[in-house]
Amino acid sequence: MNEKLTKQTIGVGVAGTGFIGPAHIEALARIGVRVIGLAENTAENAKLKAAELGIPRAYDTFEDMLADDDIQVVHLTTPNVLHFPYAKAALLAGKHVVCEKPLAMNTTESGELAKLAAEKKLVNAVNYNLRMYPLVQQARSMVQKGDIGNLFIVQGSYLQDWMLLETDWNWRLDPALGGTLRAVSDIGSHWLDLMTFVTGLKIKEVYADFKIFHPTRKKPSKPVETFTGKMLKPEDYIDQEIHTEDYATILLHYENGVHGVLTVSQVSSGRKNRLFFEINGSKSSVAWDGERPNELWVGNRETPNQILIKDPALVDEKPRETISYPGGHAEGFPDTFKQMQKKVYEYILNGDYDQTPDFPTFADGHYEMQLCEAIEKSAKEKTWVKIN
Ligand SMILES: NC(=O)c1ccc[n+]([C@@H]2O[C@H](COP(=O)([O-])OP(=O)(O)OC[C@H]3O[C@@H](n4cnc5c(N)ncnc54)[C@H](O)[C@@H]3O)[C@@H](O)[C@H]2O)c1
Repeated sequence: MNEKLTKQTIGVGVAGTGFIGPAHIEALARIGVRVIGLAENTAENAKLKAAELGIPRAYDTFEDMLADDDIQVVHLTTPNVLHFPYAKAALLAGKHVVCEKPLAMNTTESGELAKLAAEKKLVNAVNYNLRMYPLVQQARSMVQKGDIGNLFIVQGSYLQDWMLLETDWNWRLDPALGGTLRAVSDIGSHWLDLMTFVTGLKIKEVYADFKIFHPTRKKPSKPVETFTGKMLKPEDYIDQEIHTEDYATILLHYENGVHGVLTVSQVSSGRKNRLFFEINGSKSSVAWDGERPNELWVGNRETPNQILIKDPALVDEKPRETISYPGGHAEGFPDTFKQMQKKVYEYILNGDYDQTPDFPTFADGHYEMQLCEAIEKSAKEKTWVKIN
């Protein structure tokens, strides 16, 4: 069936169209892949969103979307709790699946999904889209070529401020919807995935320190959309106990004796979405700030430091694949979605699923869940925890 699929005939269904669902839809439009229909939390919402986004079909339920034979690929952009049941149902219905991170709520679920996707020989991707920034790919290439030398230290942070106020609220604060971790699984897992991708190294053990700065938050009695930052009146809130971390610092022991440290926070005022990493090796260092994604800092001991800008003429061959525009023409967050889906759909349409995918898969999503569980255990038990 898949050999006959082309960009003209392949059909996509998207479940969940809040903040990030439309980013998937936009990316698919940019690469010429048709989104046929969408499912939402209610049939009415699906109709509204389909009209707003110009999507032909609005399904009453997710099951209706799976029953549509015109759909071969399902994108899951719902709250975390739905990733496992929806991904499992989609795989059992014979659909390829692109799932948002985190892949599931725990390793039992993520392990089952990785196994099922492999058994079914269906394409599976987890949207660790930050890998697709061209200069992240360049950092990886430089590590692979030996430009950095033997790696010593991997350090950095992922800081946001959208949970700073006690009145800030989102479904991610509810463990039943988001999981028992918050800052670590929501944004920390992006950083951890990126560092495994860039260094090629797995983490052997972790030691984590967590803090909840708002043990009680004011939850709006009405729904609030992600990142809209709307202010309600005092009588619109109810007090809610919080059990997930606002902040974490995690010590990391990688393979090959590489040491690392990551700080994650959703309460760092002024930091909107600042993912930063720096890798120090025996020859040089490399550093990147996700809020200035078109610049890569290269640190040298005996020659001047450099800023490499995103320019297809200046980067290595592999990173060039993720660049669409010449130097000086900034590419950013939405472009990572485009570049990721470009790779996913080339792979789906190529039809040879024995090839190693050039994008993050359910196996990577499962590894991230293993890390998350070890980090949570370490924070609770105040001890180093090994990764299985
Ligand atoms: N890769 C990234 O950069 C990135 C960025 C943001 C969010 N995410 C991930 O995307 C997912 C969604 O996050 P968001 O910020 O867009 O949340 P959101 O709350 O803005 O959107 C979620 C959407 O899912 C819908 N939904 C709820 N129940 C549903 C159901 N039963 N069936 C279908 N749709 C349903 C909601 O109505 C809403 O429209 C999360 O897993 C999050 O971790 C990833």
